[in-house]
Amino acid sequence: MKYKDVIISKGPRKIEGVVRVSGSKNASLPLLTATLLCEGSVDLINIPNLTDIGILINILQKLGTKINWSEHSLKLTHEQNEEKKIIPEKLANKIRGSILLLAPMLARYKEVILPMPGGCPIGQRPIDFHLYALEQLGAHFEIHEDSVKGVAPNGLTGGIIKFPKPTVTGTENALMAAVVAKGDTEIFNPAFDSEIDELIRFLILCGAKIHKTKDTIQIQGKGSLLQAPKELFSVFADRMEAGSLLAACAITGGSISLKYDKCPGLEPVIDHLKKMGMKIEIMLDGLKAEVVQPLTAVSFITAPHPGFPTDLQAPFMALNCVAQGPSFIEEKIWEKRFFHAEGFKKMGANLVIHENRVDIIGGNKLYGALVEAHDLRGSCALLILSMIAQGTTIMLSPQHLDRGYEFFINKLNMLGAEFNKKTMTEKELQDVYISQIDLIA
Ligand code: EPZ
Repeated sequence: MKYKDVIISKGPRKIEGVVRVSGSKNASLPLLTATLLCEGSVDLINIPNLTDIGILINILQKLGTKINWSEHSLKLTHEQNEEKKIIPEKLANKIRGSILLLAPMLARYKEVILPMPGGCPIGQRPIDFHLYALEQLGAHFEIHEDSVKGVAPNGLTGGIIKFPKPTVTGTENALMAAVVAKGDTEIFNPAFDSEIDELIRFLILCGAKIHKTKDTIQIQGKGSLLQAPKELFSVFADRMEAGSLLAACAITGGSISLKYDKCPGLEPVIDHLKKMGMKIEIMLDGLKAEVVQPLTAVSFITAPHPGFPTDLQAPFMALNCVAQGPSFIEEKIWEKRFFHAEGFKKMGANLVIHENRVDIIGGNKLYGALVEAHDLRGSCALLILSMIAQGTTIMLSPQHLDRGYEFFINKLNMLGAEFNKKTMTEKELQDVYISQIDLIA
C-alpha cells in the first residue's frame, strides 16, 4: 500500500493571539557560509530550525566544520587545514542556498567544485551573475553538466562588478569574495534587500570595510581571512514569515500581535495591507494587526527591494482572492511562480492565469479541496487560503513548507487554525477525490 504525507485543514477558522516570528531563513543561509571567511569560532543565534538550514549545516559538517547546534544557537569552527574540500552533490542540489558556498570556498581554499544548486521549481535559476562577479575578482570557472569548478590560484583581487539586474545571492557572493580580496571592489546595481544588510552587519563585525552608497556597495578588501566576531550574532526576524502571518490574519478577518526584536524589510508589506484597509500598529517589540473593516483587493507587481517581494506574492494572491473587488498580480522576478493559483481555483477562487499575470475577482465563497504544493511559498499560500474555505482541505507534498517556515502550522494552530499532519493511503486520497467530484457534480 502506498502512503502520502498530507496536511489536513478544517475551515473556516479565524486567527487571534500573539506569536513570535522566527529568525530569517534567507539571512541565515549567507551568514552560515560567511563563517567560512572567518578565523576562530562564530556564534550565531536565532537561526531557524528548517530543512534548508539543516541541509546547509550538514554540508558544512561534511566540509569539516565543527558545529554545536542547540535550539536556535550555533557555534561553528572551521578546520585550519587547506586541503581540497568536496561539497557533497546529493546535499548541494537539494537547496539553492548551496550557491552561497561559491565565494567563501574560493576565498578559503582557492578552489571549489560546486554541484549545481537545487531549490524551488519557480523558474530558471541560472548562476551566470555569480560566475561573472567572481570572475571580475580574478576567479576562473569551468562549467560541467552537473557542477562548476572554480579556481583562484593567486587568491581574489578587487574589481568592478556591474550586475545586469539586482540578484540577492549574487550580491551576497560578490560581497563575501570582495571582503577578503586584495584591493578595492565596487558593486554596481546590487540587490539592497535587508538580508544583504544583515550580511554586511556581520562582515563588518568580522573586520570587513564596507560602505553602501545610494546605487553601489564599495568594499575595501582585507587580502586575508576575517576574524570571527567576539560577541554572539543574532539574526533578525523573518519578514517572509511575518508577511505570511499577516496575510493569514487578513484572510481570516482576525487580529494578531507579531513579536520580534527587528524585522527590517517588512515596510512594503505593511503599507500594502494598510492600503487594503487593515489596521496595523507598530510596537516597540513587534506589531499589532487587526481586520476592522472588509478589506479591498489591491493589485501589485513584484519587484526587487524596495518593491513588493516575490516571496510574498503567493500568500498575498490568496488574500486578493478573499478581499473585495478586482485586482491583478504581475510576477516580474520568477517566470513560474503561479502553481498555487491552480489550487486556489480548486477551492473556488475566481482567477485567470496569464503568462506572468493573474487577474482575480475577490470575494468568492471558497470550499475545501484536494490540492498539491509545488514550492515553499505556494504551500504556505494554499494553507492560509484553506483557513477561510468551508470544509476540509487536504494538501499534498507538505514537505515544501518545512523548507522555509519554522513551526508554521503549530503557530497557526495556537492562533486558532486547525491543521493536522497525517499520512494517508492512496485509496483514502482517491475516496476524497471521488467525493469532491460528487460534490461538484
Ligand atoms: C533569493 O534567490 C531568495 N533566496 C529567493 O527566495 C527570492 O525569491 C529571490 O532572492 C528574489 O528575491 C535566497 O535568498 C536563498 P536572485 P536568488 O538572484 O538570489 C535572475 C524563497 O522563497 N538571475 O535575486 O537565487 C533570476 O533568474 C526563495 O525563500 C540570473 O539571471 O534570486 C531572477 O529573475 C525562493 N542569473 C533574478 O535574477 C543569475 O546568475 C533575481 O534572482 C542569478 C539570478
